[in-house]
Amino acid sequence: MPRLMRAMVIDRFGGPEVLRLAEVPVPEPGPGEVLIRVSHAGVNPADWKCREGWLAPFFEYRFPFVLGFDLAGVVVKAGEGSTGVAPGDRVLAYSKQGQGEWGSYAEYVRASVDGVVHLPPDLGEAEAAAIPTAGITAWEGVFEAGRLGAGQKVLVHGGAGGAGGVGSYAIQLARHAGAEVAATCGPANQDYVRDLGAALAIDYRDGDIGAKLAQWAPQGVDLILDAVGCGSLPRAPEMVRRGDIIAAIATLVADEAPHDAASAAQRDVHIVPTMGNYARSGAQLRQLVALFGKGGLRSPPLSILPLREAAEAHRRVQSGHVRGKIVLRVSGAEA
Ligand SMILES: NC(=O)c1ccc[n+]([C@@H]2O[C@H](COP(=O)([O-])OP(=O)(O)OC[C@H]3O[C@@H](n4cnc5c(N)ncnc54)[C@H](OP(=O)(O)O)[C@@H]3O)[C@@H](O)[C@H]2O)c1
Repeated sequence: MPRLMRAMVIDRFGGPEVLRLAEVPVPEPGPGEVLIRVSHAGVNPADWKCREGWLAPFFEYRFPFVLGFDLAGVVVKAGEGSTGVAPGDRVLAYSKQGQGEWGSYAEYVRASVDGVVHLPPDLGEAEAAAIPTAGITAWEGVFEAGRLGAGQKVLVHGGAGGAGGVGSYAIQLARHAGAEVAATCGPANQDYVRDLGAALAIDYRDGDIGAKLAQWAPQGVDLILDAVGCGSLPRAPEMVRRGDIIAAIATLVADEAPHDAASAAQRDVHIVPTMGNYARSGAQLRQLVALFGKGGLRSPPLSILPLREAAEAHRRVQSGHVRGKIVLRVSGAEA
């Protein structure tokens, strides 16, 4: 085992240019943890927000800091008391970066065994690395916050999510639960969201979302999953059936315009702030991976870049309109 590893680190907050390829010590797995050799690391909007320091309210950054929530790879070492996972196992995991530990833009990462999930033979590591953050956040929105069930109607706002991909997974999970789905997206993504299972695709740049939705769901939808935020759906409470739910995914934007609480209260609509929940993530990842195995779930199309191009990956994700989940190849000749 080498004592140093290649990692993409930041030494301060800032733009994509603060990402720097460095050699840093390989972490040691503690009790209940494993060390994973990272094959691929998924890139999410949260990564550039983390790079700019927006996650400071949640944990203390210690520089040099390694970004990256999502990964897939091979277990190389098991810490004391780690059962169920052994060296050589192919896995995916949600890193502890959200708890202030080093993340997945590195050759090795340590992870709690509870959050490590075996990969079935037909699920590749690049595709698996695209799942954790977007998949568990979609799961939270659809099932934990949203309580969506068969026969209900949901609007997935930001349904084409591809850079991170929350909306893409949310559409598929809602369909899997037997719900009917409408989704907003840009003009280039209308066929894409229909192909994922949306019965109605609404171009958010073209006219009145509420009017189009009302034709499809005259009583209002049972759930809005808002994966865009920032005031982009101003009359959302009027689009939801009386007594139902808006699951508002936390964008972490400081001056986020909230949903209209007064209008929601009038209609007894519940606005439920939603984010990935580390404690539940292992169980959710197991279910997500099982759905891949049954062919019910698929990742957005992948764009694979080598780790050294992490800054370019961030520029693309930060643009907010990428189709194609960006995954960094961390191990291997061209990484
Ligand atoms: N707090 C958490 O735990 C957590 C976890 C995951 C994600 N998030 C947040 O959730 C948000 C979405 O994440 P993501 O990974 O799905 O991002 P993403 O893959 O970049 O998707 C964003 C999608 O929003 C669409 N969009 C942009 N402006 C829109 C508008 N005005 N109306 C409707 N759709 C619009 C874009 O569609 P077009 O390309 O078609 O224009 C794009 O596909 C981000 O802010 C992210 O940070 C939070």
